[in-house]
Amino acid sequence: MSTNKLSHIPKTIVLVGLMGAGKTCIGKRLAQRLGLPFVDADDEIEKAADCSINEIFELYGESAFRDGERRVIARLLNGPVHVLATGGGAFVNDATRAQVKDTAISIWIRADIELLLSRTGRRNTRPLLKNTDPRKTLETLIEERYPAYEQADIVVESGQESPDITVDQTLTKLQDLLLAADQSIADAPR
Ligand code: S3P
Repeated sequence: MSTNKLSHIPKTIVLVGLMGAGKTCIGKRLAQRLGLPFVDADDEIEKAADCSINEIFELYGESAFRDGERRVIARLLNGPVHVLATGGGAFVNDATRAQVKDTAISIWIRADIELLLSRTGRRNTRPLLKNTDPRKTLETLIEERYPAYEQADIVVESGQESPDITVDQTLTKLQDLLLAADQSIADAPR
């Protein structure tokens, strides 16, 4: 029996974690290595609303964005297997997290606050960080959101190393998870 579980990924892989953790960067590379399509949930939300995330927040407010985010992700999770990068708030939503846990494999891409700050500081596409103290905002989000992210199936650290190294680590953990799932089916009482 082949032990290369990565040649057939049974479920959509969902990347979760804070803004700037590298979900899109790692997700694109992971999808390529697995031969799966890559989808960025934020891009899909922008397409559905026909405006940018900044504009959605400005024109309709955060709760309308969250509503759209939940609906778009629910639709994507019902579609064919792919690698899905989600926005930092998605997995914090109880309904979204439950659906991901039920139908997909979740991977938390974790990075330390200095890295999050330096990566998010390069662009001003994130409405939650458009304020005078993004460090404080990220610290608050770490406190609020880590209990949700901790429920992901796999945790991968993303640091200063090349993204390919992070992708290799992710693939190893994914393979282990799929092998462990097979084992628990084999061990289950008949
Ligand atoms: C958000 C993260 C963003 C985007 C929106 C809100 C959040 O996505 O969905 O600005 O609540 O953390 P990224 O995590 O891809 O930056």
